[in-house]
Amino acid sequence: MNDKIEVADIHLRQPTVADGAGMWRVVKESGVLDLNSSYLYLLMARDFARTCVVAEHAGDIVGFVTGYRRPDRPEAAFLWQVGVLARAQGLGLGKRLVAAFLRAPGCQGATVLETTITPDNAASRALFRAIARDLGTGCEVGPCFRAADFPEAGHEDEELFEIGPYSPENLQTLTY
Ligand SMILES: CC(C)(COP(=O)(O)OP(=O)(O)OC[C@H]1O[C@@H](n2cnc3c(N)ncnc32)[C@H](O)[C@@H]1OP(=O)(O)O)[C@@H](O)C(=O)NCCC(=O)NCCS
Repeated sequence: MNDKIEVADIHLRQPTVADGAGMWRVVKESGVLDLNSSYLYLLMARDFARTCVVAEHAGDIVGFVTGYRRPDRPEAAFLWQVGVLARAQGLGLGKRLVAAFLRAPGCQGATVLETTITPDNAASRALFRAIARDLGTGCEVGPCFRAADFPEAGHEDEELFEIGPYSPENLQTLTY
């Protein structure tokens, strides 16, 4: 379980229901991402598999991305959560997962990547700015959900990152 991670041994693929538990575990161990019910990860793995990607290493899920096409803005691929286990961070896996999400079957035809990030999440902000830079496109940051929108205390603002426009040609330029 805690073997050293070799990048060449990490395989990205579309999830199945059997991966829902592993996705939930990555979030739980991250200590950063909002931990939703395990049921929700099973639903994502079953009903939104075409806009989700898991990273597998030696039979373990070590990273994942979940998202969907916004029903009211179909050109937008909304990336909900991306997480990489601590032992697999800093290897470029976050960028590979976001790129795989943009290439996923459910994201075909999308021209804008949307996600929300809290102001204190430096790693995530760096990840998405790197994606915009590598795609050669823009990254607009604006308000989305405010702390006061959340029912529980202690939640930060969630800022909207809009990355785009991008085309299939832009995606082809990514080297990961
Ligand atoms: C955010 C996260 C997915 C990044 O994964 P990762 O595999 O370590 O990222 P990568 O190795 O692909 O790095 C992507 C870019 O971000 C930069 N970066 C990564 N972690 C960073 C950090 N802690 N501080 C500053 N920059 C960072 C990298 O240098 C790289 O930029 P570059 O292309 O200019 O070199 C990972 O840190 C994580 O799972 N964090 C906890 C969960 C989370 O916050 N998810 C995002 C909110 S939905």
